[in-house]
Amino acid sequence: MIQNGMTYGREESFAMSDFGLFGGRSWLNAAHQGPLPNVAIEAARKAIEQKASPNLISDDSFFSVPHRLREALANLIGASPEDIILGNSATYGLDLLANGIRWSAGDEVLLVDGDFPADVFPWLVLKARGVSVRFIKPASGVVTAEELRGKMSPRTRLFCTSWVNSFNGHAIDLQAVSNVCRHTGVYFVLNASQGLGAKCLNMTDFSMSALTCCGYKWLCGPYGTGFCWIAPDLRESLQVNHGYWLAMQEGGSLAHMRDYSLRSDLHARSFDIFCTANFLNFMPWTASIEHILAKGTKRIEEYDDELISYLIAELRRTNFQVVSPEDRASRSAIVVVTAHERQVNRAAAVLADSGVDIAVREGNLRFSPHFYNSRWDIDRAIDALFKVQR
Ligand SMILES: Cc1ncc(COP(=O)(O)O)c(C=O)c1O
Repeated sequence: MIQNGMTYGREESFAMSDFGLFGGRSWLNAAHQGPLPNVAIEAARKAIEQKASPNLISDDSFFSVPHRLREALANLIGASPEDIILGNSATYGLDLLANGIRWSAGDEVLLVDGDFPADVFPWLVLKARGVSVRFIKPASGVVTAEELRGKMSPRTRLFCTSWVNSFNGHAIDLQAVSNVCRHTGVYFVLNASQGLGAKCLNMTDFSMSALTCCGYKWLCGPYGTGFCWIAPDLRESLQVNHGYWLAMQEGGSLAHMRDYSLRSDLHARSFDIFCTANFLNFMPWTASIEHILAKGTKRIEEYDDELISYLIAELRRTNFQVVSPEDRASRSAIVVVTAHERQVNRAAAVLADSGVDIAVREGNLRFSPHFYNSRWDIDRAIDALFKVQR
């Protein structure tokens, strides 16, 4: 194909022409950072132009920018925009919950041993309030419904887990795990950061207390973006005292804002991160999500899964060992492989030299292709791994 005047020997992917060329490299690292699609780069440019000439920033955009993002995120997860909280990270939602839930001394939070630290630290700091944390050590890479049920005690108030484990690519059985929490009355908090964007999720299919997600991986937004959804009854019970002036202007204008009445009709908006009209981040992120919605979340999931099938089949031809699950139900768009330490280090170097970007995490190689990649990128990675074996 020819792009920007360069001939590029890559097989066309589902969304390749919607993205840049990544400097001619194969970016197989969405689990670390997702690239901005071209439409988001355009939106970012517009945001910068507006800031360079602030007369271009309309008063109305302080409301319309967060409004449009909230709508796009609501569409993405099948929720109401009124229930979307705009944040800057996955941690933002976890922090709201950890600090906002009315805990009693002796309450217990269940976590997964081996989970990403973002799912751990917000709860650990509750120790001073008498809340303890217990870890479930999964027999396989992920906690099963049986393991969860077996670990619950009468003191368990909340279970928090990643949907997809960052370090092994296992996806939990959402239906089974959420059912256990529903039956036991335990809050179920899901961190969807390594799933959403590559996998579809509709909130109406599951019983969840809260979902939190960062925006800069599979959702291809800028770093410093994220959102959360909290079930309305839990959200309204949180002891979070945010009094943000801009949120209080909702439905009004910036022309008259000295009405100091405290509003109670703001729904999720009253929990938004401050400076909610974060133009430089939220304009491009909205464009990314609208792009994902336009491509079709189901179609992206299928495309990514086809790439993963191909990657796993090709990896089997090498002497690297696949750590991630291979069955459709428990796999994700993250594939982790291992070998002896020396071979892993050498593979990382050869992959980088061959123009393939992956991540090394916890001594393993992590591949995370997304809809802008094609089999061509996978072949390039596999060729590099064969060079290491020679
Ligand atoms: C499962 C998971 N959650 C969260 C994050 C990042 O957290 P935050 O957006 O709060 O910085 C990562 C980053 O790798 C992750 O893998």
